[in-house]
Amino acid sequence: MNSEPLYEGKAKSVYRSEQPGELIVRFRDDITAFDGEKKDVLSGKGVFNAAVSAFFFEHLESHGIATHFVRMVDERTMIVRELAMIPLEVIVRNRAAGSIVRRYPFAEGQVFDPPVIVMDFKDDARHDPMINDDIIMALDLLNREEIDAIRKTTLEINRLLSAYFRERGITLVDFKIEFGKVGGAILLGDEISMDSMRLWDRETGESLDKDVYRFDRGDVLSAYGRVVQRIIPGYSGGRG
Ligand code: ATP
Ligand code: TYD
Repeated sequence: MNSEPLYEGKAKSVYRSEQPGELIVRFRDDITAFDGEKKDVLSGKGVFNAAVSAFFFEHLESHGIATHFVRMVDERTMIVRELAMIPLEVIVRNRAAGSIVRRYPFAEGQVFDPPVIVMDFKDDARHDPMINDDIIMALDLLNREEIDAIRKTTLEINRLLSAYFRERGITLVDFKIEFGKVGGAILLGDEISMDSMRLWDRETGESLDKDVYRFDRGDVLSAYGRVVQRIIPGYSGGRG
């Protein structure tokens, strides 16, 4: 990419496109955990995450979910519709793992039926505090109808993704998504990848996601690659 990024996040760089209303998102090989305290570069990670994100955006679109995805330009770069991002991390939990087990008396792996939705306020300086509907409305981030619409869409996304993974021998434990606005509509943005989901092999219980990196559980790239192979029919992408 020649031009300066508009925005350089922890794992993706966002560039302006020549096409008004569109942005270029490049999935880098940087991986971080624990609020950026642990950092590494894993050559090829960005390609895997871009492939899975693009695949799920198309899968969700084909089931009626509006997303920002436009098309891939190369194996780690996608064109998306430019959104005014809503600064919320919308987290869906089908089983207890990670921060919810640290903060509340749940047993690791405990099933949530119905799933639990948790929202964090995206604010690095404040370490992304958990937020609730009243605070979201008091901060003027969203109104009641918008919050309800996001919850409904989020549960539908969870149903679609959980079913897709289940059929391929993987449990979707939890995941994080972000939404943004354009022309009065709310679209799913950002990414859906092994960095933003917890995935457990249904037979072995093995982690196939960023927990492999967080807790040094083995070869991160090999775990990500196995998800790609199981999820994307006929995947033949390479490392780039
Ligand atoms: P975090 O990891 O906490 O989500 P980050 O900023 O480090 O934050 P990256 O994924 O590296 O995350 O950066 C991508 C940035 O691009 C995010 O801030 C995300 O909200 C933003 N973004 C994603 N999709 C769009 C879009 N369609 N339009 C505008 N911005 C977007
Ligand atoms: P969570 O358990 O809250 O955080 P941690 O990984 O620190 O224990 O994470 C729940 C899910 O949401 C998990 O799949 C990772 C994803 N997630 C992100 O992708 N980005 C984030 O900033 C957070 C907080 C979670």
